[in-house]
Amino acid sequence: MTTDVIAIDGPAASGKSTVAAGLAERLRIPYINTGSMYRAITLAAMRRGVSAANCTEAALAPVLERLQLDYVRNDAGHFVLRMDGHETDAALRSAEVAALVSPVAALPNVRAWLRERQRALAAAGRLVMEGRDIGTEIFPDARFKFFLTATPEERARRRLAQSGENFDGATLESVAAAIAERDRIDSTRTVAPLRPAADAVLVDSTGLEVDEVVNLLARKVME
Ligand code: DC
Repeated sequence: MTTDVIAIDGPAASGKSTVAAGLAERLRIPYINTGSMYRAITLAAMRRGVSAANCTEAALAPVLERLQLDYVRNDAGHFVLRMDGHETDAALRSAEVAALVSPVAALPNVRAWLRERQRALAAAGRLVMEGRDIGTEIFPDARFKFFLTATPEERARRRLAQSGENFDGATLESVAAAIAERDRIDSTRTVAPLRPAADAVLVDSTGLEVDEVVNLLARKVME
């Protein structure tokens, strides 16, 4: 049996979110950004005093117990993430959240909590889901799987240019270093590490415009 999910995975700042949103729009189906879910848990944990020094399963357990994360459809038909009933905001894109999210995402209880919720979302029908382990762990039977990459330099340039992410005083070098550190933690963790599924289509987006990548994926889906 295949699941009617289009899985898009890849490292930080590989253009996944923009491409996933563009593809979903093109196909007129919903789009779920699972990185936002990890970021929301991280923000909730930070608000309860969790930092790099005490980022453990035990510290996260009470956070998960109380946190309510839902994707609800807005008037435009898009799924928007709500954290304890409120729409999530720019705080999820802060440098502080970005610095703590990979250690939080490496915790088995955090991943199990989200796995259940992400799988339940597919019950809503066909959708594009983007993250690090969608094609490998969440939906190993997804109908389409893509793994997006770009060179580290291109990814750092894109991240710096991204208006939503606020890196005060950041340089290309410091952004590249932060991205490399996140990739290192994401791909070496024990549970569901970042890696392409054996049957994923690998797409290197270096030097390509967003539209070109969306076209490429849309062609594969329509074929
Ligand atoms: O895509 P993003 O940069 O918003 O993701 C933030 C972090 O969340 C990323 O460093 C690793 C984690 N993540 C994950 O482990 N698994 C996913 N499916 C999505 C994100």
